[in-house]
Amino acid sequence: MQSRVVPLEEGKDPGAISRTNQYKPLPLRLLQLFVIFLAMCIAFSAISMYTIRRFGIYNMGNVAKSTFQPCYEEPSSLNKWIRPPSNLIHAMNDQELLWRASLVPRIKTYPFDRVPKIAFMFLTKGPLPLAPLWERFLKGHEELYSIYIHSLPSFEPRFPTKSVFFGRHIPSQISEWGRMSMCDAERRLLANALLDISNEWFILVSESCIPLYNFSIIYRYISKSKYSFMGAFDDPGPYGRGRYNENMAPEVNLTQWRKGSQWFEVNRRLAINIVEDTKFYPKFKKFCRPACYVDEHYFPTMLNIQAGNVLANRSITWVDWSRGGAHPATFGGADITEEFFKRILKGRLCIYNDRNSTICVLFARKFAPSALEPLLHLSTKALGY
Ligand SMILES: *[C@@H]1O[C@H](CO)[C@@H](O)[C@H](O)[C@H]1NC(C)=O
Ligand SMILES: *[C@@H]1O[C@H](CO)[C@@H](O)[C@H](O)[C@H]1NC(C)=O
Ligand SMILES: *[C@@H]1O[C@H](CO)[C@@H](O)[C@H](O)[C@H]1NC(C)=O
Ligand SMILES: *[C@@H]1O[C@H](CO)[C@@H](O)[C@H](O)[C@H]1NC(C)=O
Repeated sequence: MQSRVVPLEEGKDPGAISRTNQYKPLPLRLLQLFVIFLAMCIAFSAISMYTIRRFGIYNMGNVAKSTFQPCYEEPSSLNKWIRPPSNLIHAMNDQELLWRASLVPRIKTYPFDRVPKIAFMFLTKGPLPLAPLWERFLKGHEELYSIYIHSLPSFEPRFPTKSVFFGRHIPSQISEWGRMSMCDAERRLLANALLDISNEWFILVSESCIPLYNFSIIYRYISKSKYSFMGAFDDPGPYGRGRYNENMAPEVNLTQWRKGSQWFEVNRRLAINIVEDTKFYPKFKKFCRPACYVDEHYFPTMLNIQAGNVLANRSITWVDWSRGGAHPATFGGADITEEFFKRILKGRLCIYNDRNSTICVLFARKFAPSALEPLLHLSTKALGY
């Protein structure tokens, strides 16, 4: 973005115009210099070719090294520290990745123009059936988001090169619901996303999630929030406090124990808390096993202890548990109507930045692949994108 803006501004700068005027009487002299330079270049290449032929392969290596290498070696610049990795595939194992992701600058102001981005982290089995809807939602906001996808390691993505999902899969491993391997996958997503220093907010979504507002509204809501949207509540019942294991003390005691939906939004600071954690991780891994579903407790409890005052304690992902049972409702093509979205979006009240707000949820799940066509028909009218 910066590189596009700067030349424009330089063009408008009166100083730049007078500078170019100074060279006006000189074009002939410049041309002469250029011709001499060109002649020297040709002579130089001819000599090089000759020496290469004459002294063979061994010397060619030397010539190439001594004369050409400085041209390719980039002078050490800040760029190499702030440019996101061009390829998300890497050879680091989890331990190496988490360590790398936990490196944090100590100076808090950035010495460059940083446009903070939202990292959408897709935790999936494989395909993204609602991808066309997301593409529509993201279109035109390329500088404000990045995408990371964790899928089953056996899944082979086949997105066209022009898709926003192309090349966005991270090295993945098998993860099971309710097990620590699920939290490992989430930490892996966070750690990969942290490698791009521009990512400031990290949102975990699934293949059955959809955005409920247009990008500008969601970006504004997230970026202006004083709190991170991690669901965290103290449930006194058997599915809350009932899952606490006393062996977790003294790191975690009963009053600090929290429960919350897996689908979170955290800022960069909290994301680093999560990837760097070595204090709570072993306790949860050992003492929170089914029927203690660790993905509902680990991050909410850990962040409640470390940074409870910056949590909104609520999720921004709507889900319908009203049908009862162990799984929330899944909506298919026949469910998608304007009334359906009115029911989700209207008549809500929640606290946002310590004030009442009617915008409470930004995403919704779960939607079946059959919902895609009706969603594409309705999204402009019902969801604003
Ligand atoms: C998003 O929606 C809001 C409110 O409906 C509207 O004012 C804004 O222009 C929309 N933004 C885009 C980029 O469409
Ligand atoms: C739990 O930890 C909190 C904060 O460290 C402390 O105030 C409280 O007394 C502890 N409760 C128990 C039961 O140990
Ligand atoms: C969330 O809960 C924590 C701990 O219970 C509390 O300190 C914090 O103020 C709550 N956040 C909000 C926004 O109320
Ligand atoms: C929020 O709304 C509730 C219910 O309408 C009202 O009682 C309360 O005073 C409002 N709070 C603020 C901060 O506006």
